[in-house]
Amino acid sequence: NAIINREGKEIVAREIAAMAEEGDVIGAGSGSTVYLTLFALAERIRKESLHIEVIPASAEISMTCIQLGIPQTTLWNKRPDWAFDGADEVDPERSLIKGRGGAMFKEKLLIKSSGKNFIIIDDTKLVDHLGSRFPIPVEVFPSALTFVESEMRRLGASEITLRLADGKDGPVLTENGNFILDTRFSYIDPSLEENLKMITGVIESGLFIGYDVEIVVAK
Ligand code: A5P
Repeated sequence: NAIINREGKEIVAREIAAMAEEGDVIGAGSGSTVYLTLFALAERIRKESLHIEVIPASAEISMTCIQLGIPQTTLWNKRPDWAFDGADEVDPERSLIKGRGGAMFKEKLLIKSSGKNFIIIDDTKLVDHLGSRFPIPVEVFPSALTFVESEMRRLGASEITLRLADGKDGPVLTENGNFILDTRFSYIDPSLEENLKMITGVIESGLFIGYDVEIVVAK
């Protein structure tokens, strides 16, 4: 697997959509790149009368599928043959930070459930070290908030910010009814993803270290 460079997000979106085959179940992550790719997929479904089902990682993407007439299914009864998603940061080892949109729990679930994964980014997302620009988002069960904060400090968190909502007072609530802590660590150890997950009250983090993903970079 390599990091592949391509021209323009729309071109990449069409290339990813071109891989869909009759009968495929496709996992769709979240964010603007996924949105763009769904448009290209919907066009193929329409023009070629393909029977394809999408498993969405967020309500936003589920609603987009409804608008575009793309049939959906769930992880209850199907597994994706392959999946695509965006990312906030990608390092040279193809490790990722995701979760700007707060959907990292279901995104990780999809990536782990899927046979093959494509991560579509533009070249501004390429970094030498994870955490260079984006904090690591961590989804936390609300009443575990202060416990999780102190455990994260023990792991070396230098900055912990409760994500606040736009257009409403108070914290962002994820689709699962939880809070998000945006956290910075001076050094991101390969074991940090596992150590964060071990904290009681942490649902999932936006760290994806060492996953078998193909990175497609739109230039
Ligand atoms: C959503 O929670 C994120 O993980 C997105 O996949 C990530 O933020 C990339 O989004 P864009 O494709 O909009 O850049």
